[in-house]
Amino acid sequence: MSAIFPKWTNAVPTIGAMGALGGLLTVVVGTWYYATPDFWEVGYMPTQPGEGFNHQLHAGRLGMDCRYCHTNVETSPEANVPTVSTCMGCHTEGMLSGSDVHRVGWVREAYAEDRSIPWRRIHKLPDYVRNFPHHVHVQAGVSCYSCHGQIVGMPVVFQAESLSMGWCLECHREPEKHLVPPDQVTKLVWAEQEWFATPVHQRSYEGVTASELLESLRQAPPQNCAACHH
Ligand code: HEC
Ligand code: HEC
Ligand code: HEC
Ligand code: HEC
Ligand code: HEC
Repeated sequence: MSAIFPKWTNAVPTIGAMGALGGLLTVVVGTWYYATPDFWEVGYMPTQPGEGFNHQLHAGRLGMDCRYCHTNVETSPEANVPTVSTCMGCHTEGMLSGSDVHRVGWVREAYAEDRSIPWRRIHKLPDYVRNFPHHVHVQAGVSCYSCHGQIVGMPVVFQAESLSMGWCLECHREPEKHLVPPDQVTKLVWAEQEWFATPVHQRSYEGVTASELLESLRQAPPQNCAACHH
């Protein structure tokens, strides 16, 4: 087995206990962890076309719900990014007149020419991870925040989590740490500042507690190889 798993998969959860074992081991484990390519993907932030798209402005300042644009996050195994026509709900000529309005010309042009905007993909699992049903997670009440970080505060989206196998399993072993009431999955500021800032056993929202959320899962998250790799 040990040859199959990346070594650090086992090492990560114990990093917290390393102090007791002294410096040398910490250095060794630390090197495994930091030398893993996955780690370097955290922070991945490709340059986006045009002026880019600002989540801090649209989802933060303007308070738009994620599902206005990411329409199928609750219903499809693959999430989606919006088409240009979604943007035109607000960015047709004359609709907005603020100081930034001249910065959306490239969006209108793409729409007028019936071109899609070639957004560069940020989060991508390797092909041999055959089963990651995105919607099952959102329906179960895993917050976007747990997997994508504080998107509402990002002028430019970057990859906040490793998306490694150890990362998947860490949550599958203790999902209660990450569950929010399913109707709050897109409330990322609330999740970070109120729900996750409270110890698990004290979490309660409109009378619903973290342990009740765990009990209401359809099934325990899988840990067997075939569930994710078939
Ligand atoms: C007005 C439309 C709009 C809203 C609202 C919006 N997004 Fe996005 N989102 C986009 C567009 C366009 C992209 C592609 C460009 C980019 O990556 O910045 C994107 C990209 C992303 C990505 C990266 C996808 C990848 O390539 O891996 C994530 C994650 C994401 N959004 C999450 C969220 C979350 C969470 C919310 C709610 C808090 C949200 N978005 C609200 C339009 C929107
Ligand atoms: C619900 C309305 C709404 C939708 C839908 C919307 N925007 Fe915006 N957008 C705004 C507002 C409001 C501003 C600020 C304009 C201002 O300051 O005058 C803005 C500003 C911008 C800017 C200029 C500021 C900056 O960050 O550079 C860009 C570019 C932009 N939007 C792109 C998009 C794209 C791309 C989409 C579709 C994925 C989109 N918007 C969808 C309302 C919207
Ligand atoms: C359990 C973790 C998890 C949760 C919860 C989650 N995502 Fe994702 N998301 C991912 C992973 C992993 C990928 C890459 C999937 C792949 O490559 O097949 C992804 C991909 C995406 C993409 C890229 C789609 C594309 O085609 O470019 C968007 C957009 C997105 N997620 C938005 C959201 C939004 C909005 C929420 C909250 C409603 C959310 N995600 C909740 C893990 C998650
Ligand atoms: C933050 C928590 C969290 C993370 C991270 C996470 N999952 Fe899950 N996953 C869950 C929960 C909770 C369920 C159970 C959902 C249910 O029963 O409704 C689940 C269920 C699943 C299922 C079973 C789906 C079904 O229909 O039976 C698969 C497959 C899966 N996850 C794959 C992955 C993969 C692959 C990753 C990593 C890329 C991942 N998950 C990361 C929380 C998570
Ligand atoms: C919850 C989902 C999940 C389960 C269960 C799971 N894996 Fe994975 N596995 C992943 C993900 C996600 C990756 C991709 C990690 C990455 O990008 O390096 C991965 C990567 C791998 C790799 C490639 C390792 C590498 O270093 O790149 C192997 C081999 C593997 N898994 C074997 C297994 C075996 C054997 C089991 C059962 C004991 C298993 N997996 C169970 C999600 C899972």
